[in-house]
Amino acid sequence: MVQAYIENRQEIQRNREISAAVINISGRQRMLLQRTALFCFRLVYSQNETDRRIWRNRLLDTINLMEKSHKDLIYGDPSINLPGITSESIRDMYFGSPMMADYSVRQYITAVEKLVEAPAAELNLDNPHFYYVQSAASYELLDILDTIVSQYEKESNAQLERLYGQQEALYRQIANAAAVAQAQTQELEKLMLELKQSQLQVIHAEKMSSLGQLLAGVAHEINNPVNFICSNLIFARQYTQELLGILNLYTQTYPTPPPEIQEEVETIELEFLLHDFPKLLDSMKLGTNRIVNIVKAIKNFSRIDSADLQPADIHESIDSTLVILQHRLKGRGEFSGIEIVKKYEKIPPIYCYPGQLNQVIMNILSNAMDVLETQPAPRIITIRTQVRQEESVAIGIADNGPGMTEQVIEKIFEPFFTTKPIGKGTGLGLSISHKIIVEKHEGSIWCVSEPGKGTEFWIELPIEGGVGSLNSAMIPETKVAFSEITYHR
Ligand SMILES: Nc1ncnc2c1ncn2[C@@H]1O[C@H](COP(=O)(O)OP(=O)(O)OP(=O)(O)O)[C@@H](O)[C@H]1O
Ligand SMILES: [Mg+2]
Repeated sequence: MVQAYIENRQEIQRNREISAAVINISGRQRMLLQRTALFCFRLVYSQNETDRRIWRNRLLDTINLMEKSHKDLIYGDPSINLPGITSESIRDMYFGSPMMADYSVRQYITAVEKLVEAPAAELNLDNPHFYYVQSAASYELLDILDTIVSQYEKESNAQLERLYGQQEALYRQIANAAAVAQAQTQELEKLMLELKQSQLQVIHAEKMSSLGQLLAGVAHEINNPVNFICSNLIFARQYTQELLGILNLYTQTYPTPPPEIQEEVETIELEFLLHDFPKLLDSMKLGTNRIVNIVKAIKNFSRIDSADLQPADIHESIDSTLVILQHRLKGRGEFSGIEIVKKYEKIPPIYCYPGQLNQVIMNILSNAMDVLETQPAPRIITIRTQVRQEESVAIGIADNGPGMTEQVIEKIFEPFFTTKPIGKGTGLGLSISHKIIVEKHEGSIWCVSEPGKGTEFWIELPIEGGVGSLNSAMIPETKVAFSEITYHR
């Protein structure tokens, strides 16, 4: 197609050159015609033989030129771009009646030759050849030549118009093909990018799910021995009470023990031991309770979603996630820690994929912790939950960090957008969260942020099944399952 376009342009150029050459030579013919007529006058009016010789020679030169131009116009001359006769209608003008241009030109040349050959005595205004030359040069032959030129021009213009039409069609075809190719390239590039992104997201999701499975496995393994310790601690406390009771009874029954027992009592500091042992058991109970809660949080956080939406307690999800992230909240060295403020309202369970939802909460909380870690105290994350129009539940996670500029806000949900240094952020957290909330849950996720004013992310999820049907299962606002991670000032 491009080759055809190039050839078409070359043909247009060729046509223009030919047309210019034909018009040029035809103009020359016209000029030679008038010149011969003038020279004939000069010949006839010459007063002496010297002048006559001059004009005879000039006339012969002129008709030679005229004959050559005439032949060139009929048979062509590639050296000056003349194609010869280009159409039947022009051929007719040269060789057919009524014009018979070829015959007329020859007749004219013959007439000039005859006049040139005429003796001086016959060179006067009544000479028939002179008369013929004058009338042909002024009217008949001039008209014929003009008619042929305008026919040439007409045909050449028509040909050019046809070629321009072809050029336009070819140009349109090329432009269309280019547009199609460009669209295809863009589509291909988009597909490649999507493929790359979904590959990385799959890898990320796989990693998260393997991590979840690993966590769930570890939690499961820890769960049994911890439960074992926990339930045995109850008996240990009971047996201790009983043993201490017996010891008490002995002391009362035998207030004065033999010296070796008295010595041992002092060595082991029995008084202190009796006082401290129940406290020790209590703190062991507290410790194991904390382990039980952490294991429960891990199990809750890393639950493997089934194919269907299931009712979940959002507060439990948030609290479990906070347990997992607890190490990042605690103060260490210069860093005085992050305070979590919970403003939970009564909300119903919502139908969701709890494991995926936990991941979203984790991503938003992690981002808040990332920015707060670089900020001076106070560092506060405020978590709000509320029911909206009895149809959806909104979860707000706000931080008093540096906030974001409009340019950053515009891009946060784009895959791979990150402002964090290489190795710290992949830029996938919020894009995956967006996918989970919008595509998997038909919910929405947005953020409100301004430089210097902190950031608040909001997630809104529909309560599938309706608030009414779930009212009986309202989650109490006061339920804070893992109070040990709530730092109130
Ligand atoms: N709470 C926030 N305060 C300020 N900027 C934030 C906050 N949350 C997100 N951002 C901005 O949004 C960008 C994208 O966040 P996203 O979670 O998608 O990726 P990331 O945290 O950079 O990397 P990843 O989560 O994959 O480790 C962050 O790099 C940061 O610039
Ligand atoms: Mg992130």
